[in-house]
Amino acid sequence: MNTAVVFYSLNGNTKYAAQKIADRLNADLIELKPKKAYRDKGFKKYFVGGKSAVFSESPELLPYEYNTDNYDIVLLGMPVWARCITPPLRTFIEENKGSLCNKEIGVFLCQSGAGAEKVFEKLKKLLGRASFKAELVLIDPKDRPKKDNEEKINSFCENFFKEKKDVK
Ligand SMILES: Cc1cc2nc3c(=O)[nH]c(=O)nc-3n(C[C@H](O)[C@H](O)[C@H](O)COP(=O)(O)O)c2cc1C
Repeated sequence: MNTAVVFYSLNGNTKYAAQKIADRLNADLIELKPKKAYRDKGFKKYFVGGKSAVFSESPELLPYEYNTDNYDIVLLGMPVWARCITPPLRTFIEENKGSLCNKEIGVFLCQSGAGAEKVFEKLKKLLGRASFKAELVLIDPKDRPKKDNEEKINSFCENFFKEKKDVK
């Protein structure tokens, strides 16, 4: 089975997790970038990004290489923004909603405090499914590394190794 790790990261924490996950699963890494970049520092980054997330915006993305036919498993990664879906991921989901129905989906979220549970709920609603194959929450894994992060990442990945074994 082929796996895509599709993610957006403003300050590198989700990117850090996405790279580890893609390495472990030998997956393709697809980084989403909005055409108009979000502010990445200062107070305004919270205001601008938070507002965009709360208002469920779907910003236009720079072209990304994702051929849906190549993948059976899609892992979506994003930072939690104002307890909402991060807008570039919303765009990706809206652009690929039809084909995502047939995929095994895992979601990994990075946050600094709280809100991930709300985001999982909102993602399930947006994707029209009751559950994901696996969910992972990390607290700023690049900026505030913790010993058990590796373990958490490994056990998230385990769910998808099994898929690979089933097919062999
Ligand atoms: C606009 C904005 C809103 C955020 N909202 C939340 C939040 O609701 N809950 C939370 O725990 N962290 C929140 N954060 C913190 C990020 O989710 C967290 O630092 C994450 O690890 C950053 O990932 P990144 O480095 O990949 O961008 C927010 C950050 C930004 C920029």
